[in-house]
Amino acid sequence: MIIGSEKDVTDAVLKEYQRIKNPRLREIIAALIRHLHGFAREVKLTEEEFQAAIGYIVALGQRTTETHNEAVLMSGSLGFSTLICLLNNGNRGQTETDANLLGPFWRLGSPPTKNGDSIVRSPTPGAALFVAASFKDVDGKPIAGAEVDVWHSSTEGFYENQDPVQADMNLRGKFLTDADGRISFRSVKPAGYPIPIDGPVGELLRAAGRHNMRPAHLHFLVYKPGFKTLISQIYDPQDKNLETDVQFGVTRHLIGNFVRHDEPRRGAGDVKPPWYSLEHAFVMEKGAARLPKPPITGKAQGERPQIPHLEAV
Ligand SMILES: [Fe+2]
Repeated sequence: MIIGSEKDVTDAVLKEYQRIKNPRLREIIAALIRHLHGFAREVKLTEEEFQAAIGYIVALGQRTTETHNEAVLMSGSLGFSTLICLLNNGNRGQTETDANLLGPFWRLGSPPTKNGDSIVRSPTPGAALFVAASFKDVDGKPIAGAEVDVWHSSTEGFYENQDPVQADMNLRGKFLTDADGRISFRSVKPAGYPIPIDGPVGELLRAAGRHNMRPAHLHFLVYKPGFKTLISQIYDPQDKNLETDVQFGVTRHLIGNFVRHDEPRRGAGDVKPPWYSLEHAFVMEKGAARLPKPPITGKAQGERPQIPHLEAV
């Protein structure tokens, strides 16, 4: 159709995209057009603002490398990643869920590790942490033989693939659940960390007066055919940024049961206080066991990166 005025544009565009044969793609594109046009009308987007928006989108791609994914950071910073997660898990948002954000730092090929062993693979400061996790189906039946990837940042706030100082695969491991659906391992208690702010995400955070910290957490990815792959994070309740996570990842259900111990750990003479324990019972939904694509694939080389901290205002 020939466009006469502003009022005709949305209908003209929608009409052309009705040609899409795949019904789901047709639905998504039509809704995208309606909401995108509606957004521009609502805020009366100026030509200068439109040019700035295009520059922003271009910068998301330009900033993304083998070791950094700016698009993932932006989606998280807008709460979009958490919205998608909660819309698609917990019986499609009806119940609490252990599902959470993947984040950018998951790697394929974590080293197989025996239950009870340590995932500290090079000297790493921090209090000892003993984790015991169990995995059940929605009826409470233990899930044996599930592969559980675990990964977290160091107390200095870096994942090993960001940090040339740490050994390859430090603070990562792949465990197999036992007959009772359990895994256990030793590590160090992680710290929160800042997300990079040298790109469009930093610009947005500064404009909003937000800090750039994620509260301390551990990541889990659980794979077993017959179950929807569970991607989760467990958060430290003591972290001061728990309520203002820059990525909006914290949900009430995933605030971890960390316990501080001020006595030496019995049966393991080398563990001095304070040390911590953490237990969590995960529930997996039935579904397709698919692995995500790792958001980044490279390992940082050279100097340890310097990521500045933004103060909230
Ligand atoms: Fe993380």
